[in-house]
Amino acid sequence: MPDRTARDQQREELVALAREFVSNEITPFAAQWDSDKEFPVELHKKLGELGFFGLRIPEEWDGLGLDTLTYVMVLEEIAAGDAGISVSMSVHNSLPAHALVSHGSDEQKNAWLRPMARGEKLAAFSLSEADAGSDAAGLKAQAVKDGDDWVINGEKAWVTNGDTADFCLMMVRTDTADGRKGAGGISAFLVPMDAEGLTPGRREDKMGLRSSSTTTLALDNVRLNGSHLLGEEGKGFVYAMEALDQGRMGIAAQGVGISRAALEHAVRYAAERKQFDVPINQFQAIQFKLANMATRLAAARALLHEAARAKDAGLNVTGKSAMAKLFAAETAMAVTTEAVQIFGGYGYMRDYPVEKLMRDAKVTEIYEGTSEIQRIIIAKNLTIESH
Ligand code: CAA
Repeated sequence: MPDRTARDQQREELVALAREFVSNEITPFAAQWDSDKEFPVELHKKLGELGFFGLRIPEEWDGLGLDTLTYVMVLEEIAAGDAGISVSMSVHNSLPAHALVSHGSDEQKNAWLRPMARGEKLAAFSLSEADAGSDAAGLKAQAVKDGDDWVINGEKAWVTNGDTADFCLMMVRTDTADGRKGAGGISAFLVPMDAEGLTPGRREDKMGLRSSSTTTLALDNVRLNGSHLLGEEGKGFVYAMEALDQGRMGIAAQGVGISRAALEHAVRYAAERKQFDVPINQFQAIQFKLANMATRLAAARALLHEAARAKDAGLNVTGKSAMAKLFAAETAMAVTTEAVQIFGGYGYMRDYPVEKLMRDAKVTEIYEGTSEIQRIIIAKNLTIESH
């Protein structure tokens, strides 16, 4: 056996810390947050104190500076407790933090990234609009230059942390009506949530992930000075896609965590529940279900860890992260559906934990690119060498 490195030890400690945190602070309350549609503010403060809002942010900017593998393992733990909490963390860590680390000026990193890492500022990310979901480059929100300022108008949709974040990394058009440039006409702005003219819509009433907040954001002549433009004008779409390469691993980790929770519940229940005078895990019909669930979970986790290791090795992970997300999302849907089946009539009741997992799983096939879009990305990134 090779010696364990300090990195391995740190990874094990953090995963153990996350697991203990989940069992004390998340699992006992997750069903209540779900039924109340509650974003638990105090819990987010505690996660911030643990450094969980700076997982991938380098230490020089007050983050934990973790590698991607540790990051996705921590996210799996959180998602196994409550997927709504994991998405709030994943969006913050994967998307705005990634873009700021890669493209922010020192001034922007001091103003936005450092407080993000310390858990003092929660970040949102906004690409989608009502008519620009899969076709993200079709977005219409518009920023117009006025002297040194930008004035932004438009409406963004499905913004995670939309009414709970302190600021939002927002993709907005900066090309002009007579010179449309497609994806190249989009820029990234750091938009404070208290900017005049910015109004979050009502918190969406979602099927699952009900402890996370999702809103529209209406922008009515929101005026920002030039320091709010991230990186280069016209590069916002590319920054968003780069960040989503990591974001999709975060969603894959969510799928893995949800699947693990569903499998654990199903294994326990199948050992306790008796029919025809024996525990139902004595029936091959149930054994085959559990075997398939466990195998799919192990495969999803392996694919995710392969993608994370590839990112840590500095490789292009566009195809691999799409594969990890696609497979983990479809695994989460399949595994949670089978868990409900194993629980039978009880599985369909809100009093038991598995129907929530099934509701939470569904969105992993939709956001950060649908499963159909992931297949397009995988196909586009296939090369002879990629096998
Ligand atoms: N990394 C770096 N650059 C990339 C890239 C990547 N992974 N993917 C594309 N680009 C670049 C391309 O190279 C190209 O740049 P140039 O013009 O300089 O050559 C530019 O971006 C445009 O690329 P495409 O022509 O491929 O763009 P497209 O319009 O065909 O769209 C798409 C591609 C993959 C379908 C993209 O629109 C997409 O990912 N759609 C899904 C949208 C999505 O994932 N939304 C997530 C919303 S955020 C969210 O859900 C967060 C949450 O709350 C949980």
